[in-house]
Amino acid sequence: MSAEEAAARVEQRWAVVSISIIAMMVFLATFAGVHQATMPQPRLELADPRTLHIEGEFIESNLGSALEPDGSVTVRILGQQYSFTPQCIVVPTNTLVTFRAASADVVHGFLIQNTNVNLMLVPGYVSSLSARFTKPAGSHMPCHEYCGTGHEGMWANVHVIDKAEFLALARQQRRVSCVAK
Ligand code: CUA
Repeated sequence: MSAEEAAARVEQRWAVVSISIIAMMVFLATFAGVHQATMPQPRLELADPRTLHIEGEFIESNLGSALEPDGSVTVRILGQQYSFTPQCIVVPTNTLVTFRAASADVVHGFLIQNTNVNLMLVPGYVSSLSARFTKPAGSHMPCHEYCGTGHEGMWANVHVIDKAEFLALARQQRRVSCVAK
């Protein structure tokens, strides 16, 4: 075999490897998009950071977990330098849980560890994502976008509790959270 033939064969082999890698990445991106429905937000919802605290969906009395008439749960959370409100979040197992969060100042991260819930809170917009939790667990929810000198101290806790237990709490409180009263 001449040196040219050997080089051509190595080139060919490399082309097959690189095309396979690209094909695998396209497959994985398609799988994640279609099967796990990780799509870009279909619409933009606005939330003015200057008035979040005084009117609309994200006023303090409206934050926390709310049981909806259709049996799903909506969790409303406000992020600000350097905390989340509420700082302790309760959600039920085996229920569609929709997180709706907004930032009152700068960009913050919203990540529930060991789950697929991972969002950015961008001032001016509502960030929303739905999830289902299968078993009771406790997770940390750290801010994962650098947001200032107090960034590393910005986090919340998420408690996934049994559905029946959650429903009992929801009967007593309009908004459920595990923030100590
Ligand atoms: Cu908020 Cu980092």
